[in-house]
Amino acid sequence: MEKTLVLIKPDAFADGHSGDIIARYESEGFKIAALKLMMMTPAIAAKHYVEHIGRPYYEGLVEFMTSAPLIAMVLEGENVIKRVREINGATNPVNAAEGTIRKLYARDGSKNAVHASDSPSSAAREIAIFFSELEQF
Ligand code: PPS
Repeated sequence: MEKTLVLIKPDAFADGHSGDIIARYESEGFKIAALKLMMMTPAIAAKHYVEHIGRPYYEGLVEFMTSAPLIAMVLEGENVIKRVREINGATNPVNAAEGTIRKLYARDGSKNAVHASDSPSSAAREIAIFFSELEQF
């Protein structure tokens, strides 16, 4: 079954939206295959966001993502990569469709509540950054 990495970012965790966000994914039929509360270190950020190094927003993105705890999880289900991206909505909540997680919970285009892998290769790479085989069920 397909898997994807989801992060409930520091803004949504601090704002108390984690329960609602997880419930939304479960209500869409996805199973939690791994989950933890953690700090993203600068080393993890550099691996996870390797494709974004050098972009104008990179420093601010890493500063935000390493500033406070986040929830990392692996979701499993049919077509989960594409469907979770749809459920999350556009990067900036101003552009996100009604009912999407970012429309409901993101503070702005930077503090945007959630991350999800964008392809099977990204999912495999990102899951391995956050979880060992023993932590996945
Ligand atoms: S997305 O949601 O993955 O499709 O977003 P994308 O537009 O490709 O952007 C990649 C990640 O960079 C973040 N981002 C920003 N962070 C801070 N400031 C600005 N201006 C900004 N623009 C983009 C965006 O939230 C994506 O992070 P992740 O963690 O992948 O959602």
